[in-house]
Amino acid sequence: MTVTAVVGAQWGDEGKGRVVDYLAQRADMVIRFQGGDNAGHTVVNEFGTFRLHLVPSGIFNPRTQCIVGTGTVVNPETLLQEMRELSEAGVSLDNLWLSERAHVVFPYHRLLDGLEEEARGQAQLGTTKRGIGPAYADKAARHGIRLGDLIRPDYLRHRLELVIERKNRTLAYFGKPPVDFEELLEQAIAWGEALAPRIVDTLPMIEEAVRGGKEVLLEGQLGAMRDLDWGIYPYVTSSNPLAGAACAGAGIPPTAIDRVIGVVKAYSTAVGAGPFPVELKDEVGERLREIGGEYGATTGRPRRCGWFDAVAVRRSAWLNGFTGLAITKLDVLDSFPEIKICVGYRLDGEVIKHVPDTPVLEQVTPVYETWPGWQTSTRDARTWDDLPEAARAYLNRISELAGVPIQYISVGPERDQLVVVSEEERGA
Ligand code: GDP
Ligand code: IMO
Ligand code: MG
Repeated sequence: MTVTAVVGAQWGDEGKGRVVDYLAQRADMVIRFQGGDNAGHTVVNEFGTFRLHLVPSGIFNPRTQCIVGTGTVVNPETLLQEMRELSEAGVSLDNLWLSERAHVVFPYHRLLDGLEEEARGQAQLGTTKRGIGPAYADKAARHGIRLGDLIRPDYLRHRLELVIERKNRTLAYFGKPPVDFEELLEQAIAWGEALAPRIVDTLPMIEEAVRGGKEVLLEGQLGAMRDLDWGIYPYVTSSNPLAGAACAGAGIPPTAIDRVIGVVKAYSTAVGAGPFPVELKDEVGERLREIGGEYGATTGRPRRCGWFDAVAVRRSAWLNGFTGLAITKLDVLDSFPEIKICVGYRLDGEVIKHVPDTPVLEQVTPVYETWPGWQTSTRDARTWDDLPEAARAYLNRISELAGVPIQYISVGPERDQLVVVSEEERGA
């Protein structure tokens, strides 16, 4: 029985939802530890196809306790909508819990996210406009309202009174009308009433599960390259998607984490602005996008596509301490006659093997290795031996460059389209 963090190794959308859904078949608890409804975690299983934004991807296992953790920011409106959709599809929400300490994303956060993006003009970050940055900013500035406040109306009124005046000043700066305090308070109380039975102190249940040796998954959002500290700042999100943040965000000591699974797409995609050295603005990039269905799960924006960036993933492996990789979307590469891997960046005539800070990263060009494609379908592969030799060689090279063994290979979006790799098999 183990505590396993499952986190994105690249720029997000690696297939974390898909991997957590698979692993959750045997999990007692799944905790989302950071981010908000900027996440779009796609899960395809016997219940249908879902794009989860806040609800942990373990929700489909009725025996799994699912926790929206303390480190998240929660928009009650979109959460209630997501809960309705899941219910209508026959998914039980009996085990869905919300940390009373998680912060609330209010309509003014969303509004300000959009206004701040607009004000950046050419320098837009390309946020999801879900209010994530403004909500985490309020949390850090200690102007945040927490889910637990929603079920304590008197305290909520007091907290909101402190906040609203500031918000209205900011809205006036952008030439926008003020927020109606009583209306907002009423709305917030209604959210609290709707969510009340689930808003709890999550720590006792988490401590009991971990101490009891239960199978616990910590579900990350986004990926290392958009981490607030180690990503391509300022083109980052406002929280830490790294495994280290799972401890604070969920409420688990660092010493309790046994495994860290890095979810890695077999190529690269990014949505939003910022340097992305492997981006292909040609027909190869277009093909990756079309075959891989690379359109944002939350915003529908076309994702920028390119070959696998081993420099970025190796760094991510260090930052996260990966014990294993889950490689997804291998099947998307099935038809390519040759496949490239970025093994370094060229900068001022030299080749570097690390990720430099953002303004420098803007100037690098990728150095590629070329590998032969397999040009046959991998979608029916269920064992390492089922995979074509060229695919195994490609995967082995990725593993070698990342310095991490491969544990899972996903060859399709559905739950069972997966190869579980044992150490012996991989070496065979
Ligand atoms: P997440 O945010 O990390 O959970 O990833 P997203 O759900 O945003 O994006 C991953 C997309 O790839 C989704 O549309 C998944 O259904 C799909 N997907 C996941 N694994 C595979 C795979 O192995 N093959 C294919 N073809 N699609 C996959
Ligand atoms: P999942 O969990 C891909 C990107 C945005 C933008 C930057 C900041 O599905 O992998 P934000 O709204 O967080 O302030 O935006 O981060 N971004 C994502 N990209 N997948 C996501 O989530 C993302 N969440 C945010 O495009 O560049
Ligand atoms: Mg996604």
